Amino acid sequence: MKALILVGGYGTRLRPLTLTQPKPLVEFANKPMMLHQMEALAAVGVDTVVLAVSYRAEQLEQEMTVHADRLGVKLVFSLEEEPLGTAGPLALARKHLEGDDPFFVLNSDVICDFPFKQMIDFHKDHGKEGTIAVTKVEEPSKYGVVVFDESNGAIADFVEKPQEYVGNKINAGLYIFNSAILDRIPLKPTSIEKEIFPEMAASGNLFAFVLPGFWMDVGQPKDFLKGMALFLNHVHTTKSENLATGKNIHETATIRGNVLVDPTATVGENCVIGPDVVIGPRVKIEGGVRIQHSTILSDSTISNYSWVSGSIVGRKCHIGSWVRIENICVIGDDVVVKDELYLNGASVLPHKSIAVNVPSKDIIM
Ligand code: GDD
Ligand code: MG
Repeated sequence: MKALILVGGYGTRLRPLTLTQPKPLVEFANKPMMLHQMEALAAVGVDTVVLAVSYRAEQLEQEMTVHADRLGVKLVFSLEEEPLGTAGPLALARKHLEGDDPFFVLNSDVICDFPFKQMIDFHKDHGKEGTIAVTKVEEPSKYGVVVFDESNGAIADFVEKPQEYVGNKINAGLYIFNSAILDRIPLKPTSIEKEIFPEMAASGNLFAFVLPGFWMDVGQPKDFLKGMALFLNHVHTTKSENLATGKNIHETATIRGNVLVDPTATVGENCVIGPDVVIGPRVKIEGGVRIQHSTILSDSTISNYSWVSGSIVGRKCHIGSWVRIENICVIGDDVVVKDELYLNGASVLPHKSIAVNVPSKDIIM
């Protein structure tokens, strides 16, 4: 079976992390976001993955080729000259997708348990053109809302980012389609959510598969952190793995709740880490540091007695001693934060050096 992953778009809502890396490569739980998907696709026998890219293709190609080889998956790059939206890329990659077999299409920024086997079975059972995975959320206006018959999944209506309440079951960004869908899509910028799904629903060709378990679109900082907590909880409860053990964690450090520490990272004396923390490869956490509800990306250092809460620290950053970072700060790659500073909800662009407090939500350029 084949799959197409939508990896275009500028990832503006995940800036400044996406200023130095395309969104699908940003590490979520210590793996490029889209690698979680690639591994799950490979596990159900997908042998070819088309990456629909609209910019920064080189970086994606370099990194993902290594992973694809390891997984035994063939990667095809389908490069758009202008961004073709969420449907246009299917028309561009038509020759790779056509055939008797259905194929997967995925948004690259969603995380869940990827129950692809059940999705395939559901798709074959209803026998129509398309299956959309749906999930329930509290804030449906940020998503595509799906109105369907709960008894058999038949979708009656699809409304992208509705202004008024239509329902709380939303498009989870994971699809299976038969080749027939390709006849509906022109080779030009086209939105699958606005232009294709409503007409498929109206003709009785679109079915909803209700996702079991957790789900999150991790394409913005707050949701990235929420998704991280859900993911860690999922790994912890289903695989009962201990995610933070080993000699790299000082014996006097306390690990609270669900914490994932890469084996190449070090955690110093008397630190208190957790709940809901991911610490990336080669990160150095010095003594007395406290971190909660946060991700620290690879190769960064957090110096003695600093505090990080509800924030994302980019790659290769150097955070000084007695620093306080909280309230959805997003620190870009290669940033230096001097000692004893307070950052509250700051977004710091890559390669900056911060020498003054940022007491309220601000973008540091
Ligand atoms: N190749 C390509 N070209 N990919 C694109 C383009 C483009 O022009 N524009 C966006 N994408 C990719 C993004 O990289 C992402 O993987 C996917 O298409 C969806 O785009 P987002 O920008 O993340 O959309 P969204 O989060 O606002 O809404 C979408 O996802 C929700 C679920 O997370 C919609 O599909 C909603 O209906 C859905 O509920
Ligand atoms: Mg998204």
